[in-house]
Amino acid sequence: TTIYVPRDSAAVSVGADAVAEAVRREAEARGLDVRLVRNGTRGMLWLEPLLEIETPEGRVGYGPVEPHQVPEILDNPDHELKLGLVEELKWMKDQTRLCYARVGVTDPLSADDYLANGGMAGLRNALQMEKAEVVKAVTDSGLRGRGGAGFPAGIKWNTVLNTPGELKFVCCNADEGDSGTFADRILIEGDPFCLIEGMTIAAYATDATEGYVYLRSEYPDAVKALRQAIEIGYARGWLGENIMGSGLKFDLFVRVGAGAYICGEETSMLESLEGKRGMVRAKPPIPAITGLFGKPTVVNNVLTLASVPSILADGAEAYAALGMGRSLGTQVFQLAGNIARGGVYETAFGMSLAELINEYGGGTRSGRPVRAVQVGGPLGAYLPADQLDLPLDYEAFAAVNAMLGHGGIVVFDDTVDMAAMARFAMEFCAEESCGKCTPCRVGSVRGVETIDKIVAGQDTDTNLAVLNDLCELMTDGSLCAMGGLTPNPVLSALRHFPDDFTRAETQAH
Ligand code: NAI
Ligand code: SF4
Repeated sequence: TTIYVPRDSAAVSVGADAVAEAVRREAEARGLDVRLVRNGTRGMLWLEPLLEIETPEGRVGYGPVEPHQVPEILDNPDHELKLGLVEELKWMKDQTRLCYARVGVTDPLSADDYLANGGMAGLRNALQMEKAEVVKAVTDSGLRGRGGAGFPAGIKWNTVLNTPGELKFVCCNADEGDSGTFADRILIEGDPFCLIEGMTIAAYATDATEGYVYLRSEYPDAVKALRQAIEIGYARGWLGENIMGSGLKFDLFVRVGAGAYICGEETSMLESLEGKRGMVRAKPPIPAITGLFGKPTVVNNVLTLASVPSILADGAEAYAALGMGRSLGTQVFQLAGNIARGGVYETAFGMSLAELINEYGGGTRSGRPVRAVQVGGPLGAYLPADQLDLPLDYEAFAAVNAMLGHGGIVVFDDTVDMAAMARFAMEFCAEESCGKCTPCRVGSVRGVETIDKIVAGQDTDTNLAVLNDLCELMTDGSLCAMGGLTPNPVLSALRHFPDDFTRAETQAH
């Protein structure tokens, strides 16, 4: 029989290795013929370590499992930790998994498993098509940049394809630095071949011959998994010269960052890849025209590239049939913060934020009412509880001055101090600013000071005016999204939770 215990770092952090070891030990002691597979996580992080046993009906899950419970489960398949068929659990069943189709299902480093589960169908199709047709398919699918900005991927690829150049690059931005985000990591650890396939399709479509994955140093397990997968990819003829006999040449490398949030900004990432300090470059020129080492470069997020294989395998129409408005296809949302059931949930755009948080996330972990939700990372706006019926859609969020970003959702209960959260936003910007422009470098430091004065009840009206001015200046005058978007969390906290800022003053009166 086959038993699955995830190798994902989130699962390992709560003891999955010890559970796997217990399985191995028990199987040996009992003389059982057990094939132990270290799969990726299913994304139901509250159930980790999740152990799955293959049965004729499907994979039956148990979780969260402690090592001493492994012998009990082997003795009694109806153990109290039994969850039933994993694919039938509501959390799994209601999802539309395209990007994440194999995550948690396969052995991440088994090329055979990858092929057996639909892998390489997209690349195989792409290689039969003209390059411009591949670009058109990506454009027609409606796929937008999943890193956060939501720029149409096909239009970006088209610019690279149509920019002449002897040497072109595909760079994958895996510097996943947003608070409450982990979908890039889980994909890389759980299905690295999918990213490799997506990047190879991008390379074919744009005439690129070299690719780089810029991975953050905080993800050592992902670095290891991807490097191993690349090695296997070369051995299988999925990378290198004459890929799958098509004549295509594409070399892929991993580069590890050094822990700067700003290196997730694309031009800063390119500087870092070139071996320089991660400082933002002014745009234009855009990387699609003048990118890595000045060459035309596709820069896409992990999830954007990992969505491409399914688009080429199943067709642009099938992808574009999902979602709403101009937000088509699926996004891998990440539930974090004060949430009962945290994890990843891939679904078509359009579900309401409240449904995702309450139906699937199970509300707050503390059991207290939700007070605020931050979507889109540390630069995303705070939404108050009465705005949660918002559909998960780029434009619907933009309409209320919020952003969907990379799909990270961080939930706070009614004990949160929103003035402290606003201060944190400014502090984060001061800490992570690359220092190139004044509104961000100096504005964020002044922002922290000003919030401190407001909270202390010093000249509240004057300082509130100063804070609003500062925010306006940062929004309009910053060179990149770091300084430009920091006012989002600050102003939304001020707008929706003004009392948190003036408590000292109210108490004084
Ligand atoms: P942007 O709107 O300037 O650019 C989006 C992308 O489109 C860039 O790759 C740009 O080069 C490209 N582009 C623009 N015009 C183009 C054209 N005509 N042809 C080809 N390509 C074109 O946004 P930016 O500053 O790159 O990103 C801001 C976003 O990043 C924010 O909305 C935020 O959600 C997100 N973000 C994500 C983080 C993460 O960890 N994933 C962290 C911080 C921010
Ligand atoms: Fe650098 Fe901040 Fe200016 Fe961006 S906004 S270029 S991070 S100083």
